[in-house]
Amino acid sequence: MMIKTAGVRRKSLGLFASTCKISLEVMSKKYFIFLIALLAVSNWMVGQSFISEVNIIPRPQVVRLDSGSFRFTSETKIVIPQMEYRRIASFIKEPFKQAANISLQVIDHSPTENFILFRRDKKLKPENYRLSIQHDRVFIYASDYNGFFYGIQTVKQLLPPQIFSKTVVSKTEWTIPVGEIEDGPRFRYRGLMLDVSRHFFSMNYIKEVVDRMAEHKINRLHFHAIDDQGWRIEIKKYPRLTQIGAYRAESRLLTWNEVVANRPDQYPNYGGFYTQNQIIDLVQYAADRGIQIIPEIEMPGHVTSAVASYPFLSCTDQQVLVPNAGVLPPFLNVLCAGSESTYAFMKNVLTEIAKIFPSAYIHVGGDEVTKTHWKQCSNCQKKIKEEKLKDEEELESYFIMRIRNIVKDLGKKMIVWKEQSKTPEGVIPMIFKNVNEVTSITKQGYEVIVAPASHTYFDFYQGMPEQEPLAYGGHTHLSRVYSFDPAPDKMDVKQQSRVLGGQANLWAEFVHNEQTSEYMLYPRLAAFSESVWSLASKKDWTDFSQRMMTQYDRYAFANLNFARSALNVNYKIERDKEKKSAKLFLHTEFPTVAIRFAINENVTAASPIYKDSILLKQDTEISARTFSGNQPVGKLLKIKVEIQ
Ligand code: ACM
Ligand code: ZN
Repeated sequence: MMIKTAGVRRKSLGLFASTCKISLEVMSKKYFIFLIALLAVSNWMVGQSFISEVNIIPRPQVVRLDSGSFRFTSETKIVIPQMEYRRIASFIKEPFKQAANISLQVIDHSPTENFILFRRDKKLKPENYRLSIQHDRVFIYASDYNGFFYGIQTVKQLLPPQIFSKTVVSKTEWTIPVGEIEDGPRFRYRGLMLDVSRHFFSMNYIKEVVDRMAEHKINRLHFHAIDDQGWRIEIKKYPRLTQIGAYRAESRLLTWNEVVANRPDQYPNYGGFYTQNQIIDLVQYAADRGIQIIPEIEMPGHVTSAVASYPFLSCTDQQVLVPNAGVLPPFLNVLCAGSESTYAFMKNVLTEIAKIFPSAYIHVGGDEVTKTHWKQCSNCQKKIKEEKLKDEEELESYFIMRIRNIVKDLGKKMIVWKEQSKTPEGVIPMIFKNVNEVTSITKQGYEVIVAPASHTYFDFYQGMPEQEPLAYGGHTHLSRVYSFDPAPDKMDVKQQSRVLGGQANLWAEFVHNEQTSEYMLYPRLAAFSESVWSLASKKDWTDFSQRMMTQYDRYAFANLNFARSALNVNYKIERDKEKKSAKLFLHTEFPTVAIRFAINENVTAASPIYKDSILLKQDTEISARTFSGNQPVGKLLKIKVEIQ
């Protein structure tokens, strides 16, 4: 089977081959191992299925339903006595205006009936909420902004999915069931990383993603705004960073790995950046939605965009171009770690960054640093001698510690990609290679954020590559994302408490535009949200797959370009050369739909349901599809199986 494996981004293939259980190379040849694993996981999960009463994603801790419902009308009042929570009202007012043409009023005293009241309950933990829904009134209890905000998000999900529509939907009953919901997050850090460097995304689009994050109860946006291919944040002291560093030669007509390195005669006509005022506005927009933005300023590697803008930052002082796609590793143009001017530059940059991003954290990258130039650079070698360092590896640690001190002086905590064998003290490693590292690193006493390629890289495929848009490689199908556990229970309580949370990552080498970005994000963000919000004991794949059907409806009403790949049919063929036969195995991720198949004709709702492998003794055309009742739900799969 063909899979176009890209070997060209910051992540060298070798890294994945050696660290991921399911490496890109192995996957391309042995896709079936993955399928078998999927089968095993889903079969196991069917065994413990239970049906949920409401289709809330991520799944709440406790839901108790009673009979009857509360009905929203144009008379319904939103009662918010505390000024600081007033802003939250718009997140239910606006959907009602758009989808129902109902204007809800916000007031500060309860009327006698037909209202939603915000009530402070100091006993509730941060971000927790309790909903008490009666037939004539609704109480939302919380102790903080995010708690009330999430209470409202849950109310929205209790309504029909039509509430997500941007245009008025008539003939809809705007009711929510009477009952009680108690809820709160398992982890305090629930992140999504957006890479806006490899491809540039409009501020409007980023705000739309922030809206969706909030609906999924995600509370951290890791803003990967700097990389080799583009510097995207205005720095007033260094204007060339965005005059030069934000633009590169257009390359989107070809895929990332087909593009050859750009030539000096190519006009840098692709890119863009965000002004500090735009960032300040975005930070507030996100804060209104309970989201903190953590900027990432990559260094000392992955920052050719800065070197192209200010060549003195590198060891060679040579003028280089902002690379377009197709630049093969190793990425040589790293910052010179021996020159004091590098540290002075980064101190100035980080000082401006700290002012516009109020977050307590700054991410400084730190991954995949090529040391070729450091080995040849007189400044770097001098620094190694002066600081009594052993080698370039220790120079890298020295660099990270110098930056950590700058970040600390700015009153912030520093996050780095977990790259080096030893993370400097006081730094939070973000684990990206494999989820299994969590155990050893928390044992050493570090607080960690878990963002592993093995489960949460959303630039990987979410279905069979031949049915998907070209992706980076790898596989993080919906069920795999769902199986992500940032703090597996084999760790002791102390270790568990050091896991701040988890993060999903949308690297953008293969994400050329907003349409593709949406496709890669949804519905995997839903599966991810349950891995970081819901209690592990509440997670159940069968139950989730049932709730997902409503979530798909919400996405559809919201006009999102979401993927339905989990409903497609995957296959594998086992050939027996001696017996001149082949076995065809079909699989779909959701246990709640049936696969039907037909041999040498088109599959219909009347075709047989697939149960076991299909034995074929001659070349055969198979068509297969998933059905829910009589309704086809996934893509039509048509394959020609050749016996030899
Ligand atoms: C990474 O994937 N290089 C963080
Ligand atoms: Zn140097």
